[in-house]
Amino acid sequence: MTIRAVVKGVGHYLPERIVENSEFEASLDTSDEWIQARSGIKRRHFAAEGERTSDMATNAAQAALADAGLEPDDLDAVIVATSTADFTFPSAATSVQSGLNMTSGFAYDVQAVCAGFVFALSTANAQILSGQAKRVMVIGAESFSRLMDWEDRATCVLFGDGAGAVILQAEQGEGSSDDRGILSVDLNSDGRHRGILYVDGGVSTGQTGYLRMQGKEVFRHAVEKLAQTAEVAMQKAGVSAEDIDWVVPHQANIRIINSTVKKMGVAPEKVVKTVQDHGNTSAASIPLALSVAKANGQIKDNDLIVTEAIGGGLAWGAIVLRW
Ligand code: ACO
Repeated sequence: MTIRAVVKGVGHYLPERIVENSEFEASLDTSDEWIQARSGIKRRHFAAEGERTSDMATNAAQAALADAGLEPDDLDAVIVATSTADFTFPSAATSVQSGLNMTSGFAYDVQAVCAGFVFALSTANAQILSGQAKRVMVIGAESFSRLMDWEDRATCVLFGDGAGAVILQAEQGEGSSDDRGILSVDLNSDGRHRGILYVDGGVSTGQTGYLRMQGKEVFRHAVEKLAQTAEVAMQKAGVSAEDIDWVVPHQANIRIINSTVKKMGVAPEKVVKTVQDHGNTSAASIPLALSVAKANGQIKDNDLIVTEAIGGGLAWGAIVLRW
């Protein structure tokens, strides 16, 4: 018998304000046509003034608890993947804990930018497998609109805000790839590339700063590294591309998604795509996509899923799980 971290609930939250591509045409030399052709994005949500990352995370957590039929005190831990926590400290996760009125357990943030949810899911899985926790809420939540330089058309049209949450629970498995739950994890980072995608502010500068990106370089690394990490994760899980029911990729750019999936050898109709409606929501993009795909009937119990992401660092990874 093997312990597995099995998904018990999923939920998401998107801020009310929807910004269509055409809104950028008023202030920037850009067009709906260019944005859609180069990124696949049609619209994104932006957080309201005063609406914080931890507020969105708490809303997503409540939706996941309702989906699982659980109460906050049924959780042992809350992990929030974010690069846009409300404050330098305390963590967004402790704000979520207080927002949920949780009176026990532990909470902390994980920061691996757009790969954050994969890293956080891996951490939660490890805590469940080690017996340290039985039920863990893993949230990806971001307000990247607060990191945008609104004069930089090459970045500010690409990102959006939102949150998604997944509850993992310890269950007995057989130790085979037929088990439900997380079957394999592959994590990587290479700090030599930290200069191609970063925020030029933080504690060392005294300002929040803006996101800076060498788009073409990020694109090149993304396709190669995502296909590779997905392949390694599938090998570790003992499954092949033909076994996969759904690829749930980080939603950064439709061209990255399509090229990666082609390299992986997975059929295009097996890919969950939300980038057109959410833009790139960084660590929130995968749990948002999982929640939307479950709600619209794409993902069903026992489906075999591979999820992969890359972000600033560079940091990247993939997870194979059976829903
Ligand atoms: N509207 C119109 N033109 C634009 C815009 C815009 N919004 N943005 C850039 N351009 C122009 C450029 O200025 C350039 O003009 P020039 O030829 O006169 O210099 C031209 O379009 C081409 O620019 P490129 O950067 O070469 O365009 P490219 O085809 O590479 O597309 C993009 C740019 C969309 C950023 C692409 O490189 C990309 O998607 N890269 C990956 C970015 C990404 O996904 N990052 C996130 C992943 S990691 C994470 O999620 C944190």
